[in-house]
Amino acid sequence: FKLPAIDNEPLRSYAPGSPERNGLEDAIAQMKRELPFQVPCVVNGKHVKTGNLAKQPIPANHALHLCEYHQADPATISAAIDGALSGKAAWEALPWNDRAAIFLKAADLISGKYRYQLLAATILGQGKNAWQAEIDAAAEMADFFRFGVKFVEELYAQQPPKNAPNVWNRLEYRALEGFVLAVSPFNFTAIGGNLSGAPALVGNVVIWKPSPMSVYANYLTHKLLLEAGLPPNVIQFVPGPAPEIVKQAIDHREFGALHFTGSTAVFKSLWKDISQNLDKYRGYPRIVGETGGKNFHLIHSSADVSNAVLQSVRAAFEYQGQKCSALSRLYVSSSVWKGGFKEQLVASTSKIHVGPPEEFQNFVGPVIGEAGFRKVTGYIEKAKQTGGEILFGGSSDDIVGYFIQPTIILTKDPRSITMVEEVFGPVLTVFVYEDEDYEQTLDLIDTTTPYALTGSIFASDRSALLHATNRLRNAAGNVYYNDKCTGAVVGQQPFGGGRASGTNDKAGSISIFNRFVSPRSIKETF
Ligand code: ALA
Repeated sequence: FKLPAIDNEPLRSYAPGSPERNGLEDAIAQMKRELPFQVPCVVNGKHVKTGNLAKQPIPANHALHLCEYHQADPATISAAIDGALSGKAAWEALPWNDRAAIFLKAADLISGKYRYQLLAATILGQGKNAWQAEIDAAAEMADFFRFGVKFVEELYAQQPPKNAPNVWNRLEYRALEGFVLAVSPFNFTAIGGNLSGAPALVGNVVIWKPSPMSVYANYLTHKLLLEAGLPPNVIQFVPGPAPEIVKQAIDHREFGALHFTGSTAVFKSLWKDISQNLDKYRGYPRIVGETGGKNFHLIHSSADVSNAVLQSVRAAFEYQGQKCSALSRLYVSSSVWKGGFKEQLVASTSKIHVGPPEEFQNFVGPVIGEAGFRKVTGYIEKAKQTGGEILFGGSSDDIVGYFIQPTIILTKDPRSITMVEEVFGPVLTVFVYEDEDYEQTLDLIDTTTPYALTGSIFASDRSALLHATNRLRNAAGNVYYNDKCTGAVVGQQPFGGGRASGTNDKAGSISIFNRFVSPRSIKETF
């Protein structure tokens, strides 16, 4: 058989008056009328209502809640794990074509029937504007599933290159023993789909614990997967308190893998907990994680100023700086800074509209929640107290929603707090380097933070691009030339970083699927 042609899902522009704009506006209005939704745990395809309710607030108006969800209790988690394990053999035995077809159908449900609902849930629940929601919940999630099928097809085709006379050598790509625990973040609806979907595509069963701050969009994703024909026990949906759910899963003898996106601190602590349990497990669990970032733009003296400004504003402030890939430390050559960069940066940022994400003119919406709001505003205060100069923004308003102005901090200290620590909000810190200090600046970029996720180099001088790329060899897993450090596209830029940013198993590529299979070599002699 031959797979259907695979391509990236085309992005819709939502131009005023267009049918797509009307469709999305209607979906948002309907969701606002009907909220709060009731979300159960979904175990073996059945709705489980534990009665222990928690709420997913709307960050732009936190008096309202998008959903109330039943938090998984120990009995529910136990049932989810047992159910997943009981469905494992049948799922893995299903012919690959049929597993693939389920995910291709799910991708079509994402890009068709469920598109506006997924977008509305991501806009209201996670505070993304329509275009940010479109590249995430519609395009990236459909791409993860469609390209996933293509990558797995390529993986299964990888066979030993040689047979001896009368010998046939082959590799069988088994799923892992036990179950996979997927722990997904709030900031991309698509990541929830990928953390649970990628291991399932290669025949694993999955316990999926979504972030409390994206439960509704993740629940819709799970619902459409079932509608696409995913057998009900393959992915078990168990929202609720992370420490309890995760502990119960990783204490289980059949724990086979962790597929995680979230903070570096949580990932490290889970890794340590898993290591304590090694004697309990059948084998060595696979641990795959994408964690923090402290991403940089380096503006070389030969850079095109307007482009570097535009890409920096987009990378720092799109989705309020809450992408793990977001720009947060900007190193600008003093000749460029004095040559118009500063004025253009402030002017562009001052034009940004801040407000509820469902109002289409707004570029920056709220940060996700109260804890995030306090953390980000706390960083702005600390930066001010330690000599940072606020070039723009710095104010915030949490009366109705968690809004923080896009904020630019100019620092003279390249190791000041907001140059080093992950802020995860709309805060950009700028360090202006003297052109003659360029080599030291490269060292600073490499050594200032423990992270190594994304980074961009802006230069029209090709040798400067190459030199910086070589010097910063391990400082980022995704490098961009003259472009923003966010927005990796599935099938185009495999995504992930090293050091404290993760295990660099590259979402949106064949690599990730390698982590969730356990190949068996079979030699047959005739
Ligand atoms: N993959 C997302 C990006 O590149 C996080 O922005």
